[in-house]
Amino acid sequence: MSKKLFIETLGCAMNVRDSEHMIAELNQKESYELTEDSSEADLIIINTCSVREKPVQKLFSELGVFNKKKKEGAKIGVAGCTASHLGKEIIKRAPYVNFVLGARNVSKVAEVIHKDRAVETEIDYDESQFAFKDFRSSLYKSYINISIGCDKQCTYCIVPHTRGEEISIPLNLILDEVENSVKRGAKELFLLGQNVNNYGRRFSGKHEKINFTELLRRVSEVEGLKRIRFTSPHPLHMDDEFLQEFAKNDKICKSMHMPLQSGSTKLLKDMKRGYSKEWFLDRAKKLRELVPEVSISTDIIVGFPGESDADHEDTLDVMRQVGFEQVFSFKYSPRPMTEAENYTDVVDPQIASKRLAEVQELHNDTLDRLKERNLNKVVEVYFEELRSDGFVAGRSDNNLLVKVKGSEELLGRFKNVRINRLSRLSFEGEVI
Ligand code: SAH
Ligand code: SF4
Ligand code: F3S
Repeated sequence: MSKKLFIETLGCAMNVRDSEHMIAELNQKESYELTEDSSEADLIIINTCSVREKPVQKLFSELGVFNKKKKEGAKIGVAGCTASHLGKEIIKRAPYVNFVLGARNVSKVAEVIHKDRAVETEIDYDESQFAFKDFRSSLYKSYINISIGCDKQCTYCIVPHTRGEEISIPLNLILDEVENSVKRGAKELFLLGQNVNNYGRRFSGKHEKINFTELLRRVSEVEGLKRIRFTSPHPLHMDDEFLQEFAKNDKICKSMHMPLQSGSTKLLKDMKRGYSKEWFLDRAKKLRELVPEVSISTDIIVGFPGESDADHEDTLDVMRQVGFEQVFSFKYSPRPMTEAENYTDVVDPQIASKRLAEVQELHNDTLDRLKERNLNKVVEVYFEELRSDGFVAGRSDNNLLVKVKGSEELLGRFKNVRINRLSRLSFEGEVI
């Protein structure tokens, strides 16, 4: 009889892929069935995120609940970025935790479940972590790592400390994964890394050295593959060659993440982002010129130490000029091991909240204005999710979330859809 596994995945797409990897590793030795009820699981894993403080605080209360409700003999493991950064501290605070597995050590999951209180958090390079075993949470699209870690040192960010130095995965391994997932029926894929367009920065050994633009070309040659998405690219590395490839390669979906963080050149310098307000605006303008239908998403941090009203105004100004189709905005959260943790010119939390609300209001205004443009538009949708309310949902090439009334027959298929109902975040339409 197979065992039951409850796995909760927090954080970014890399964690989603790491969870898939853990499931696959576990299934190599014993068969596990996924469950959404932690109280019937034999193994409970939380794959954690450390990027802001709140989820870290929540971890211990959540662990307490899992421990109380778990069935007898069940094991609990903490994996991911908080595991990397807190390490054995987790077992000190929650002694019932059976193992701690850093973000760079997830391939060891099948080993550590049989040990007593194992803590694996080193961030040395280990090539076995590239050989991701096959488990995919979606039949229709695949997540594929192209690099791990991050060599940037943005002063607010903990990720380089949790995921270690940046290493690009050799092209032949990436192409193997792409081909395998296409063979299994996935027509769309997501290339993942903290800095995807810095691909080629450092390889583990003697491997063909190519850059991200070339990687995109090579991946797009795989037969049967229809769509390529990627996250996250860095604005600093958006050179003309990359933007031109993005524009002319039909398989690359026309939605781009351009993480701004702040619109103020002074703050960008304090954050060590490596670009100015003007560079960012220039890249966004060039992108919209080359690809008029592109949708641009961004990340914004408000209340970074030293942020003045004028700096905040610069952020709003960039938002107005670019008109982002999607904005993920956060209040700055001081993180251990980062440079900005020691900055003293802290922004009053109430002012930070007010600025966050202003960013969100401005974005909502933009969405209200933009959504009208989509009425009666015909877009090609790749359907990937069957909902319980009789709708099937998917995304257009430029990342509009579109749902239609329908059944599972639509799953994994491309259809032209005329949009006939609008809302801020999703659209309803009918297949034509
Ligand atoms: N590699 C990506 C970011 C990964 S972290 C990039 O460079 O864009 C995802 C997002 O979390 C970041 O873009 C940033 O907006 C936010 N973030 C990171 N550290 C943060 C912190 N200390 N406080 C608040 N938000 C933070
Ligand atoms: Fe963090 Fe900056 Fe690296 Fe992104 S590029 S993961 S924000 S250090
Ligand atoms: Fe979070 Fe780690 Fe991703 S800190 S955002 S899970 S890289």
